[in-house]
Amino acid sequence: MSELPSGYRVFSHEIIDSTNEEAKRLAMAGDPGKCIVWAVEQTAGRGRRGRQWVSKPGNLFASILIRPQARLADASQLSFAAALAVKHTLEVLSQQAIGFALKWPNDVLVDGAKISGILLEGSSKPARHGGYAQTDYLIIGIGINLQHHPEDTPYPATDMIAATGISLKPEDVVAQLTVSFDEIYQSWVTNGFNALRQQWLKAAYRLGEPIEVQQNDNRIKGIMRDLDATGALRIEVEDGNEVVIHAGDVFFPAGA
Ligand code: BTN
Repeated sequence: MSELPSGYRVFSHEIIDSTNEEAKRLAMAGDPGKCIVWAVEQTAGRGRRGRQWVSKPGNLFASILIRPQARLADASQLSFAAALAVKHTLEVLSQQAIGFALKWPNDVLVDGAKISGILLEGSSKPARHGGYAQTDYLIIGIGINLQHHPEDTPYPATDMIAATGISLKPEDVVAQLTVSFDEIYQSWVTNGFNALRQQWLKAAYRLGEPIEVQQNDNRIKGIMRDLDATGALRIEVEDGNEVVIHAGDVFFPAGA
């Protein structure tokens, strides 16, 4: 494994329930943060919205534990940092310009298919003296399909070999991923969300094009316009009004 950024530690496991769960156990046990939990295989890998994340050896399963000094709602903006870090890592390691694009909120796509998913989990400290509650810990769980991908997914999936013919090993990806993430994380600490938001928008998939967002039984259709100052998605709907989406699954209409 190449070098981690200064101050980071890695915890490697052959097999574990979920690297997010292990990172949570570390946080609860008082780990100061700046560590990455990595596993060859997960028996209970989880995805967004309570879905399962199939976690067979060959792909990357890792969780970064940090303790940002910010409100949890603001720290959640770091999911965009993680998506950009995945894109940067795969570009650096494959030494090729590959057409990665980012799908809100935090998927990484190649040729329109999902190659990486990110699951943020965190907790706040109790608010003090009527102030805002600060983040206790934030776990950024990252799955990257390096060698294989599942077939039955709500959104088409792919993997590095299928999409690019490039074979990367998870153990070679962990350190670069941490380096790429920490660089963007430090820039967010110093410069705030707007710089990160601009970077994400530059790489966004189908910005300015038709989009559909599924929220429980509700399907919202419109044109993807922007991210707001918090990271929510701004969509222009048919009557010209704007709808701000804080949660949901994004799809792109066929033929659009
Ligand atoms: C998604 O649904 O797109 C998010 C998937 C996140 C999967 C990763 S794999 C490493 C970490 N551990 C987990 O249990 N989940 C995340």
